[in-house]
Amino acid sequence: MNAVTTAAAHAPQLNRTADFPILSRPLKGRRLVYLDNGATTQKPSAVIQAESQYYEQSNANIHRGVHWLSQHSTDLYEQGRESIRRLLNAGRPEEIVFTRGTTEAINLVAHSWGRANLKEGDEILITGMEHHSNIVPWQLLCEQTGARLRVVPVTDSGELDLDAYRALLGARTRLVGIVHISNALGTINPVAEMTRLAHEAGALVLVDGAQAVAHQVVDVQAIGCDFYTFSGHKLYGPTGIGALYARYDILKDMPPWQGGGDMIHTVSFERTTYADVPQRFEAGTPNIAGVIGLDAAIRYVCGIGLDNIAAHEHHLLDLATAQLSSLPGVRLIGTAADKAGILSFVVDGIHPHDLGTILDTEGVAIRAGHHCAMPLMTRFGIPGTARASLALYNTEDDVTALMAALRKAQKLFGTGQ
Ligand code: ALA
Repeated sequence: MNAVTTAAAHAPQLNRTADFPILSRPLKGRRLVYLDNGATTQKPSAVIQAESQYYEQSNANIHRGVHWLSQHSTDLYEQGRESIRRLLNAGRPEEIVFTRGTTEAINLVAHSWGRANLKEGDEILITGMEHHSNIVPWQLLCEQTGARLRVVPVTDSGELDLDAYRALLGARTRLVGIVHISNALGTINPVAEMTRLAHEAGALVLVDGAQAVAHQVVDVQAIGCDFYTFSGHKLYGPTGIGALYARYDILKDMPPWQGGGDMIHTVSFERTTYADVPQRFEAGTPNIAGVIGLDAAIRYVCGIGLDNIAAHEHHLLDLATAQLSSLPGVRLIGTAADKAGILSFVVDGIHPHDLGTILDTEGVAIRAGHHCAMPLMTRFGIPGTARASLALYNTEDDVTALMAALRKAQKLFGTGQ
């Protein structure tokens, strides 16, 4: 048992189910057991109320209005930026750009920084456990610039091969893209060490934090990365809102990628000059209510404490790992030493999709498939996995329900003997 496991075993369990209205609705006549948190988390009343209160009391467009409501909305929006700065421990609010989520944040970096800085012969180094959103934008960029995509291999336990990483880093490497926590394996990657090595090689580093921000403390200055991305909806906030953190000295020199209102300084038919960052990257009316909801979500998780959330989820992860491992015919995919609350597994004789459907009839919501990580599934020689992913509101009863539903599925298929 390592130190984290020991601490988790003794951690007081959170009891926050009542904060999430959807968790009290029955599903198919049963208690809802929601274990698809890697895809999206449920929303606490605090977030739902913040959004509806915004529309009831404060709604107006931001930045351009002289009237009170517009200025008030602008203040709320910029408070949201400050909230994210604190969450990530960024040095200044100008380093936070609102986006639709992780995918848009990565595309922003690829379009803006990438097109301006990459040329034929340059290399982008990503890892074999990336989500498609941290693969495809770089492939598109390679097609446009002549740069080459290289990939750090994944070991059988679902960790990155760090010797191979060191060997792949070189004078041609311009950017390293690493997922902080793998959505398909739960592996927590050593992003600070990997960033240090990348910087020694002269490369910038983008960390995809989509699965990390809701589950542990994230400190971009301690990691040392140049870009960090996340989505609000995986952090108990609304869909359609997320953020890019970019180091100020890099962001300030990046060209715009979308043109429109709010991102300009002056416009004439002869020449347009652009706003300072971060407004340069926020063209058009943004998702103001989304920012308000995300701010409420950040206050909610910080009120509980990300260390407490991490300890709670580690306890459930240990419990579920032990129980799944003892079930005949079940194989865990992703057994890294340092893992977050994601359990990916295959069950002999039952396709992951069938498993997901049977569990659904028991009120247990899991995800089944390739998890937008097709190259990783190919690496393990499987079409997909069943995946249970944990959140702060999950309980030991949820783990018990998952195991009971799995045994029922095995019985139905005549497997697991
Ligand atoms: N990226 C999300 C997941 O892992 C959709 O399920």
